[in-house]
Amino acid sequence: IFAKVELAPRDPILGLNEQYNADTRSTKVNLGVGVYYDEDGRLPVLKAVQLAEQERAKQSAPRGYLPIEGISTYDKGAQALLLGKDSELSASGRALTFQALGGTGALKIGADFLKQVNANATVHISNPSWENHRALFERAGFKVDNYPYYDAATHGLNFDAMVAYLEQLSAGDIVVLHACCHNPTGVDPTAAQWEKIANIIKAKGLVPFLDIAYQGFGAGLEEDAQVVKLFAKLDVPTFVSSSFSKSFSLYGERVGALTVLCASKDEADRVLSQVKRTIRTNYSNPPTHGGTIVSMVLNNPELFALWEKELAEMRDRIRTMRAQLVAKLKEHGVTQNFDFVLEQRGMFSYSGLTQEQVERLRNEHGIYAVNSGRICVAALNSRNIDAVAKAIAAVL
Ligand code: LMR
Repeated sequence: IFAKVELAPRDPILGLNEQYNADTRSTKVNLGVGVYYDEDGRLPVLKAVQLAEQERAKQSAPRGYLPIEGISTYDKGAQALLLGKDSELSASGRALTFQALGGTGALKIGADFLKQVNANATVHISNPSWENHRALFERAGFKVDNYPYYDAATHGLNFDAMVAYLEQLSAGDIVVLHACCHNPTGVDPTAAQWEKIANIIKAKGLVPFLDIAYQGFGAGLEEDAQVVKLFAKLDVPTFVSSSFSKSFSLYGERVGALTVLCASKDEADRVLSQVKRTIRTNYSNPPTHGGTIVSMVLNNPELFALWEKELAEMRDRIRTMRAQLVAKLKEHGVTQNFDFVLEQRGMFSYSGLTQEQVERLRNEHGIYAVNSGRICVAALNSRNIDAVAKAIAAVL
């Protein structure tokens, strides 16, 4: 059965990690994967997480199977972060949240369930989008198309083309939207543009699937959830995949959530039963450790406040790195205007570097970026930024 198996290409993002790990150059820098490193180039263990883990260790709690939908306090906390603490949808039992294996796991569970209830829909993702979106929805059995999004000429949003595209979609079609900190471009619609997008989604009977993997890295936890709240007001079936990988620096714990907004409590009960079957036949039920830690932080006011402060520090440091990158590029003689890097939000900068330039960065300088030109600003620090700017200047 394996005789005709073809060699698959490396994953465009995680495959870079493999190459980076095998690189023996001591000066190498990994700006590929979306991971936050601190000023010392280390993956941080947040204080809020440390305190929760110490408390958890003291409890020496047994590790039985979790409910299929996960830890209830985790689900409740994750939902409150998206919809607000006093959401009518939550109070009336119309919002469902499932602990999921990271944001990717949430997307996959949502995609599999959608295939069951909305099999003939086409999934529309932004052009460009996170590298895994297309593959994930195709694997779930959907046809995937791209809607216009990024305008390379302005380094901004091609809003008119996006709107014109959405206007001609068929009812039931699924639109994947990045609720904040668009990956890979860092370009988000304005509040007024979001209103318009939401109104088209409602008027055309489309199904929004909001991906929010970087909540807290844009303007703040509340501010970054505004788009989710906007869609929650629309009264349309809505899917939200959220992730704590980055915001808690708990990448390997696979801490994410799928939230589904329904029209009534009765509908929600039926959806709950079906999504539980989807989870049960994929991985049965989620793991305990990461979910417990996140739940402890979300549900303890002091730990929550500490987490929010640490998240703000990460956000601010990324902003500082954006400013330093722009300044250093100038210092190293780059004449192109890179000020757009200051406007982009979240961990990434869609640098405008071509694939050939990215390859030269990797081969000649040991600096790893995604082939699309996406660089992870959150991996820059005051020790590597000079070398990175110099290398970019060289390949430009
Ligand atoms: C990224 O875009 O780099 C992250 O979301 C990590 C991943 O899984 O691709």
